[in-house]
Order: sequence, then structure tokens, then C-alpha cells
Amino acid sequence: MKKYIYGTTELGEILFNCLKECNIEIDGFTVDKEYITDNFLMSYPVVPYDELKSSAENGEEIGIYVCIGYKAMNENRRRAFKRIKADGMKIESFIHPSAIVKSDSIGEGCLIFEQAYIGPYTTIGDGNIFFPKSMLSHHSNAGNFNFFSVGCSVAGNVKIGDNCFLGNNSTTKDAVNIGSYTLLGAGCYASCDTNEYDVIVPARGQILENKRSIDFI
Ligand SMILES: CC(C)(COP(=O)(O)OP(=O)(O)OC[C@H]1O[C@@H](n2cnc3c(N)ncnc32)[C@H](O)[C@@H]1OP(=O)(O)O)[C@@H](O)C(=O)NCCC(=O)NCCS
Repeated sequence: MKKYIYGTTELGEILFNCLKECNIEIDGFTVDKEYITDNFLMSYPVVPYDELKSSAENGEEIGIYVCIGYKAMNENRRRAFKRIKADGMKIESFIHPSAIVKSDSIGEGCLIFEQAYIGPYTTIGDGNIFFPKSMLSHHSNAGNFNFFSVGCSVAGNVKIGDNCFLGNNSTTKDAVNIGSYTLLGAGCYASCDTNEYDVIVPARGQILENKRSIDFI
């Protein structure tokens, strides 16, 4: 089976780096023709998506890693995922060998990067991305197409809907419900249930006027 990374942004490059490290071969990258700016990325061909679609229609087996990030609250990734499936291609998943994944069930097309931790008795839907050192603790459930940024920490018994974004180092209290399309800003503490499309942010750090680092340490 031929395998391609869908997406030529930094996320595609990050996955490429991991796949290479794990000796997982790909045949190239793919995006819609109008987004192709270069015919090669990382010395691999960038193939117009329609060409792969035609090959699939002609019976060729093609696997796709969906490498679309969190823009539009992960909606672009969800759309790409549905389209690729409808076009008869296989959605690939990736779990880095250093990740600890004890989940009861994981959906299709999840990308789980270095040292992510997914605890026991958890369930994970489709198209979720777990960046390095993100954590989803025991008995928690995540729906589909969520993005867990670097170092975010979700406690036990949490229910996360779909298309959420959990910013880096955000912390989610145990046993809360995080509504779909919730945005947890970097470094915030989500201590209560959220409704759909809610945004939680932390107090902002501030630059001290008329002070310099060497005044302190
Ligand atoms: C929450 C977040 C999305 C806000 O984005 P931003 O670019 O900082 O937003 P802006 O500075 O343009 O602020 C937009 C509005 O939200 C308000 N706001 C943003 N962060 C705030 C905070 N911490 N406290 C109070 N108000 C805040 C601003 O005051 C502004 O209000 P206004 O439109 O009335 O002027 C951003 O801080 C964040 O956490 N991003 C995620 C980063 C991350 O985790 N990346 C990981 C990728 S792997």
C-alpha cells in the first residue's frame, strides 16, 4: 500500500520526522493542486490529491495520514478526514513508541506524539492529535478531532466533546465536561464544565516596566 501525508505545513513535517525515526516509509505528501507550491517536500514528491483519488478509484490501496492542525477549531481536519474516507482511502494512525497509551479504544486517524500519556479506561474518538507530553488521565473520554497541545494535562473522569483545542500546559480539573469546540488557552486552569465554543484563558503574565532581568538574578 502506498502511504502519503495529507498536508504540507509544519505539522506534516513534524509527522514526517517521527515516521522517519520509526522507519515507517511514506511515498510522498499530498494536498489539493491549488495549494502545491513546490513539487517536493523533504525530497519526497508532493502529489495533487486528485491524482491519489483517481488511483484509489482504480483500485489502488492508498493510506493517508491526515496532518491538518487546529485552525478553525479543527474543522479543516474533520472535513479532510471525511473526504478522504469518502474517496475510498485508508486513514492512517501514528503512535510514537515513547507514548504510553492504555486506552480501551482509539478511533481512526489519531496522531500521538512523543511521550504523550493516555491513561487506562479511557476512550478516544477519531482524528485526535496528542502533541508531545500531553496527558489524558484515567477514565476520561475524548470525542473526535480534538487537539491536545504540548504538555496539556487532563485529569481523570473528564469528558471532552469534539473539535476542542487544549492549549499548551493547560490543566483540566477531574470530572468536568468540556463542551465541543471549547478553546482552553495556553496555561489556563479549566476548573468547571464548559459549554460549546467557550474560551478559557489564564491571567496574563506582564512585562515589568523599567525592570531588567539582571536587576533580579
Ligand atoms: C487564548 C488565545 C487563543 C488568545 O489568542 P491571542 O492571540 O493571545 O489573542 P489576542 O491577544 O489577539 O486577544 C484577543 C482578545 O482576547 C482577549 N484575551 C486574550 N487572552 C486573554 C487573557 N489571557 N486574559 C484576558 N483577555 C484575553 C484580549 O484582550 C482580546 O480582547 P479584545 O478583542 O476585546 O481586544 C491564546 O492566548 C492561546 O492560548 N493560544 C494557544 C497557544 C498554544 O497553546 N499553542 C500550542 C500549539 S501546539
